[in-house]
Amino acid sequence: EKIILAYSGGLDTSVILKWLANKGFDVIAYVANVGQNEDFAAIEKKALATGASKVYVEDLRKELVTDYIFPALKANTIYEGTYMLGTSLARPIIAKRQIEIARKEGTVYVAHGATGKGNDQVRFEFGYYMHMPQVKIISPWKDPEWLTQFEGRSDMIAYAQKYGIPIKASTKKPYSEDENLIHISHEAGILEDPSKRCEEDVFSLTLSPRMAADKETLLTFEFKNGLPVSVTNEEDKTVVTDPLQMILYLNKLGHDNAIGRVDMVENRYIGIKSRGVYETPGCEILWKAHHNLEGITMDKEVMHLRDSLMPKYAQLIYNGYWGAPEFEMLTAAFEQSQKNVSGTSKVVLYKGNVIFAGVSSPVSLYNEALGSMDKAGGYQPVDCKGFININAIRLMASAKRDTN
Ligand code: ARG
Ligand code: SIN
Repeated sequence: EKIILAYSGGLDTSVILKWLANKGFDVIAYVANVGQNEDFAAIEKKALATGASKVYVEDLRKELVTDYIFPALKANTIYEGTYMLGTSLARPIIAKRQIEIARKEGTVYVAHGATGKGNDQVRFEFGYYMHMPQVKIISPWKDPEWLTQFEGRSDMIAYAQKYGIPIKASTKKPYSEDENLIHISHEAGILEDPSKRCEEDVFSLTLSPRMAADKETLLTFEFKNGLPVSVTNEEDKTVVTDPLQMILYLNKLGHDNAIGRVDMVENRYIGIKSRGVYETPGCEILWKAHHNLEGITMDKEVMHLRDSLMPKYAQLIYNGYWGAPEFEMLTAAFEQSQKNVSGTSKVVLYKGNVIFAGVSSPVSLYNEALGSMDKAGGYQPVDCKGFININAIRLMASAKRDTN
């Protein structure tokens, strides 16, 4: 039987590849390029050397930006107030392409290397089921046969040595990382104690604010219907319009200006608490520029309703429900909420901060005269007497009851 394995080139998926081959599967390795800093040619070679009969290296970056990052941006989606969902947003596209490859190869077998303790197993497997209901999933870290053979890393290293699978030098950082266009995550190992501050050498996509240049960078974004159509660096007049190039450019500027570090203890879907350190340089800039423009272009009640639904959206994405019916319903609502989020948003990057530097829009709702402290602007202050009196009725009623 053919099986499509989501392969990263690391120790776990290399051992899994060999283990599946030893079980008699014809293993097809699938490497998703979601923007991680990797040598894909070397990974392909390693997969073939480890026993894959064929390797797919798929560049998913463009689609990741337009079909995953952009919908999340429309709701300023953020999990538990802090996490920008970098891994959560990329898993569904990886799963989707894996199933496309399975169809092309005429098999229903797929495999992944996520552990049985985390979120990624759920995201991968929901993704598989949503795209191929008849799929057959091999998930070694939930497989009794695998678990009797491998307790942890040392068993895998021994297995790798036995079969001549090259292991990366022991200089490898002692924690678990996942990198893509949106972020890099750092978890496990030395980070498992949340009473300890994360050491500087953990970070790889951002400079420390202390090392960032003592110089402001002014950016001008143009948005249309909630999405960025261009960004201009006012210093050197660099203009970027292509969505993927824009994320790459913002990641570079975010790196240089120490933007997008977060450190938190989050709640995994299965109920375990986990400490995560994330670097999200480009998307942090984009989220803020977008949110600032919403201030003048979004109707108050539309904004408040959207904001009240956003945590649900974040939860659905975090928990692996990208593409589920309730997810599609919210996506449509957020799309509608963005129809007037068009105009210009300027931000300044400086030592870890994304600073508001002005917004304007041809469809602005902001009325300077009405908002002014110096002008009446056509507003009748006496109208507010009734507004306050009526709204105070129930406040007075409960105040009276409570004092009796
Ligand atoms: N805790 C984050 C999340 O659930 C990051 C997961 C990182 N995954 C990994 N295989 N290293 O989205
Ligand atoms: C894993 O368990 O494979 C990584 C962490 C997670 O999925 O939450």
